[in-house]
Amino acid sequence: MVPFTSTAFRSPDLEAPSAWIEHVPFMFWLIDSLRPHRFVELGTHTGVSYCAACQAIELLGLSCSCYAIDTWKGDEHAGFYDEGVYAGLATYHDAKYSAFSRLVRSTFDEAVGHFEDESIDLLHIDGMHTYDAVRHDFETWRPKLTKNAIVLFHDTNVRERDFGVFRLWSEVSAGRPHFEFLHGHGLGVLAMGNSYPKAVEALFTSGEQDHGQEAVRTIFAHLGQAVAQRGNTANAIRQAEARFALSLEDWRRQVEQRNSEIEALTAKGEQAEARFAQSLEEQRQQHESEIAALESERAEKAEEFRGLQGEISAANATASALRTERDKEIARARAQTAALQAKIEQGQRAVQEFKDSTSWRITSPLRALLNGRRLLKRVAARFQRVVAAKFR
Ligand SMILES: C[S@@+](CC[C@H](N)C(=O)[O-])C[C@H]1O[C@@H](n2cnc3c(N)ncnc32)[C@H](O)[C@@H]1O
Repeated sequence: MVPFTSTAFRSPDLEAPSAWIEHVPFMFWLIDSLRPHRFVELGTHTGVSYCAACQAIELLGLSCSCYAIDTWKGDEHAGFYDEGVYAGLATYHDAKYSAFSRLVRSTFDEAVGHFEDESIDLLHIDGMHTYDAVRHDFETWRPKLTKNAIVLFHDTNVRERDFGVFRLWSEVSAGRPHFEFLHGHGLGVLAMGNSYPKAVEALFTSGEQDHGQEAVRTIFAHLGQAVAQRGNTANAIRQAEARFALSLEDWRRQVEQRNSEIEALTAKGEQAEARFAQSLEEQRQQHESEIAALESERAEKAEEFRGLQGEISAANATASALRTERDKEIARARAQTAALQAKIEQGQRAVQEFKDSTSWRITSPLRALLNGRRLLKRVAARFQRVVAAKFR
């Protein structure tokens, strides 16, 4: 019967998405049972299988050097991913396991030359899963294995797309001690030699007992499912927390944005208010100065008006005086005219009296005699002088 230690029942420290997660309890058990001195993994991605091994090595205080080899770029089967995967793993790994473990960022073929032959006693092959790729990886790294090394093959139970691990597994496992788990996409445990610790021997020979192989498979499958379940729950919680944090962050951003919009609008409003107040003040000052100007103009006009009124009064007085004077003049003229009229009438009467006089009538023949023009003129002139003298 396969002996179980408490190591197999532990939970992985690293919680990350992986198709490998259901084999973590077996990795814990294997490290504890095999106690390897050098562990190499070909294909690490998020680090679930590799960190399970490191966790057990550290827990048990084993003297084992570990190397994770990966480009951390992905492949056709695992999918291609971004730099964050390597960065996240390196941060986690280096803080916990750098005392005995290294993440080697290179292709498997580039890395292989850096390992001595017969130096690796536990190799995990989990790179590309086509038959050719996995065969190539196995063949390339085979010289590096110790005589009694163990090789793990993941995905021995995948029969879709162009996964070909199951084919290689059937080839390499024939004639060698081995064990295959069927859960978690299948994991092949291959013995390269014949001498192993008792617990590992028991694993390889479990099939010799009635239902021994099924019992081991069932136990590890259940342990694996429990770990996966915990991982799934933890993942779901993490995703929910991330979503919650995102929506919180989103709300916070929206609130910040609204706040800055409100601040901008408030500032704009204050500026507009200040501009409005300034323009009101300017208008008030302008109106005040216009009112002052109109007021002084009105005062000037009033002064002018008072002046004009004075002038008009003076003119009226002058006119009235002139009218009085004129009336006096007219009266004087009328009186003079009347006096003259009287004198004319008096003259006419004097002329008539002269004409009616005896001398005038006596001299009538003489005047007829002297009916010459010069005499008449002289007589007329004399007459005029006489008349003039009479009225003087
Ligand atoms: C299936 S994943 C490994 C899963 C991992 N063991 C786990 O616990 O989840 C395969 C990884 O192998 C890497 N890979 C595939 N072919 C490679 C090669 N030739 N050299 C280096 N890395 C390779 C990919 O980048 C990918 O990260």
